[in-house]
Amino acid sequence: MCGIIGYVGKEPAAPKLILGLKRLEYRGYDSAGIAVRGKEGFSVYKRKGRVSGLESAKDLTGGCGIGHTRWATHGEPSERNAHPHIYGKFAVVHNGIIENYRELKEECRARGEEFASDTDSEIVAHLLAFYDGGNVLAALKTVCARLKGSYALAVMCSDGEDALYVARRKSPMIVGKGETGLYAASDVPAVAECGELYSLADGEFAVLKGGDIRFYTAEGEIRKEKMARGSAEDIPEKGGYAHFMLKEMYEIPASIANSLVDFEENSRFLAFNIVLCHTEYIQIVACGTAYHSGIAAKYAIERLARIPVEVTVASEYRYCNPIVKENTLVLAISQSGETADTLAAATLAKERGATVAAVTNVRDSSITRIAHFVLYTNAGREIAVAATKSFNAQLALLYSIAVALATAKGRAARFEALRVLPSLSAQTLAGIEEIKKVVPLFAEADSVYFIGRGADHCAALEGSLKLKEISYLPSEGYPAGELKHGTLALIGEKTPVVAILTQRALAEKTMNAVSEVYARGGKVLLVTNIPELAAREEVFESVLLPACEELFSPILSVIPLQALAYYTAVFRGNDPDKPRNLAKSVTVE
Ligand code: F6R
Repeated sequence: MCGIIGYVGKEPAAPKLILGLKRLEYRGYDSAGIAVRGKEGFSVYKRKGRVSGLESAKDLTGGCGIGHTRWATHGEPSERNAHPHIYGKFAVVHNGIIENYRELKEECRARGEEFASDTDSEIVAHLLAFYDGGNVLAALKTVCARLKGSYALAVMCSDGEDALYVARRKSPMIVGKGETGLYAASDVPAVAECGELYSLADGEFAVLKGGDIRFYTAEGEIRKEKMARGSAEDIPEKGGYAHFMLKEMYEIPASIANSLVDFEENSRFLAFNIVLCHTEYIQIVACGTAYHSGIAAKYAIERLARIPVEVTVASEYRYCNPIVKENTLVLAISQSGETADTLAAATLAKERGATVAAVTNVRDSSITRIAHFVLYTNAGREIAVAATKSFNAQLALLYSIAVALATAKGRAARFEALRVLPSLSAQTLAGIEEIKKVVPLFAEADSVYFIGRGADHCAALEGSLKLKEISYLPSEGYPAGELKHGTLALIGEKTPVVAILTQRALAEKTMNAVSEVYARGGKVLLVTNIPELAAREEVFESVLLPACEELFSPILSVIPLQALAYYTAVFRGNDPDKPRNLAKSVTVE
């Protein structure tokens, strides 16, 4: 989603801003811009499209500037809507959504002010100009008190000394000290050169000036602890792979191995284990790919621990007046830990008395401040917009929870069945290039369907989501039994259908659906661990998976589906790392 970078220091700001924006490109955006403070006021460069369009701004000389990558919410992707927004002596970049911007705009218009963009963000520059009494921090505090919604803001003023003013509410903002100056950014990779980083909490402000950073709340100045630094801030490298997505798929075995937790063995999770003993109901809230891992968790937890699990898309949970009974554990799953809908759902669940455990891949992300317990997947930073290794890591952690819950409830479940998953995923990966032979069929299809029963349903949903988001092919995932209740009408000559079949007890039932597709001329790609099924005449092509505990098979069966999406996207000339219209972390509602 949108990205922010700011620099104030001894060197020209423009090249640093452009570099920072390039490092934020993976988040997804549709326009970009920078503003640099010079003797004659601001120099502003904005472009629709890629950050590379800003290269001509590199020679600007000022040492103070702000930059932004915009993912359009209010107003089309265009130069006029790109940030920074300038009004009077203020330049502003903003992430988030100002929910009351319409009424605030009316107020400004009534004073005769005109707006240069269709965005909600521009209002901040207008309000700063209105409340400016010579103290920018005081004006920023007053403006923030008037805003409803979410924001990370970086502000610069054309008079006075070189300085940046930043603020945060429900949208990440960090500041840091580098060798040549001070930085502000929405995400760590943008400021990888900083030796010291500080993460702002909601309601906090920072002023970056004269080589020093000072922190404030609305009430006054505060002290802040430095952020602990881990490998997460490494500058992303493709490591010889054509795309981050492919590299990240090859990191799946390590991400599974690093995310499995033997809760019984690990005393660090003692308190969480006690919660598991008392848990009678589970609710899972998540979005997109994380929602699919919730569906896989439901199958595993209900089967192993016999505890009822409800999985709800987070954006629905928050508005469905959820019933939270006593002893309910809510698992809020979010790779980024910043998804606005998941944060809101987790907050609501907590207010209603649930114990909330966050499953996230990002240390110190916003969800870690809401949850009672934080369970980290250790997939490493994921750069490609389409989630791959983080999904497999989520499954590894959620299956570990299923085993721990079963143990807590005195039911038989073996953690050993999970220990083999890293090596089985490596075996699965070794064969992924095979999938290329069906890519031309898929790449030219009008639509594609994915079907699976039981635990395989989650892989069908995730395979379909991957394909649509990076290859732009219309695609749907269904429980296999649903096909005949409507979708069969869409199956015709050469329609590709991916059937995932890893549950022996359900094999013949799913093969009925495969036969129905075959009878109508559809082409079935069977992803299975049952060799004899692959030889059936109804099967057009097959991928044979290594045998594993059936309940956990989605962690393997999704791998060829991720590969299918990747190679189809490349075949169609798309950039799989930066799908159109999508963002890596969706920080707006
Ligand atoms: C799909 C994808 C998205 C995310 C969703 C939730 O590849 O990446 O569907 O899964 O936006 O994101 P997180 O997990 O960060 O909450």
